Amino acid sequence: MAKTARTFRIRRYDPAEDAAPSYREYVIDVPEGMTVLEALIRIQAEQDGTLAFRYACRGAVCGSCAMAIDGVVRLACRTQVRGLEGETVTVDPLPNLEVVKDLVVDMDSFFEKDFAVEPWLQPAEPAPERERPVSPDDWTEAEPYTNCILCASCHGVCPVAARDPEYLGPAALAKHYRFLADARDGAGEKRLKLVDSEAGVWGCDVVWSCSKICPKGVRPTKGILATRERVKP
Ligand code: FES
Repeated sequence: MAKTARTFRIRRYDPAEDAAPSYREYVIDVPEGMTVLEALIRIQAEQDGTLAFRYACRGAVCGSCAMAIDGVVRLACRTQVRGLEGETVTVDPLPNLEVVKDLVVDMDSFFEKDFAVEPWLQPAEPAPERERPVSPDDWTEAEPYTNCILCASCHGVCPVAARDPEYLGPAALAKHYRFLADARDGAGEKRLKLVDSEAGVWGCDVVWSCSKICPKGVRPTKGILATRERVKP
């Protein structure tokens, strides 16, 4: 199998050490089909065991490996190195979240925002004997929002999240709409109040960057605008 050498320029930073962030370079052979995640795993195994990054599924399901690759937020496990232009691949941590070490960011604030929109079904009627069915027609609006894998890519490209740490962010607001649009949910007004603020749906700049970057095709901006229509008096 043909191989080509590529240089990986990776941002290194450890807040526990008294040193500013810097880039370190590693050269590896890249066989056809190698992903950026596989390249990081090889660099860690063969050249630098101190390199920190996060992953789990390797298959674009767990949402752990979002990072900025050549300046674009992507899932490392779904990005083929040979699909990138240039001889050098620059890798940075996901923006808009604090760095724990190297490419690992602190997801706590992100998950707290997800929890703040009460992402669970709150039906008005008592629980039935069996499951709560929903018709295909009633499910159409909510369904696309269930594809979110909580990778925070949208959060990493959101200009409002970059300047306002209080902003709930596109992922949480998309999750909110997923339940607002669910025909079985009965939280209505109470649910709307959770996001009727500048930290909620009114804070969005409507630049659609979150919707363009989502690796799962979720469109948070669409949900935010639909929620605004419901909040309007
Ligand atoms: S490792 Fe799970 S999404 Fe990339």
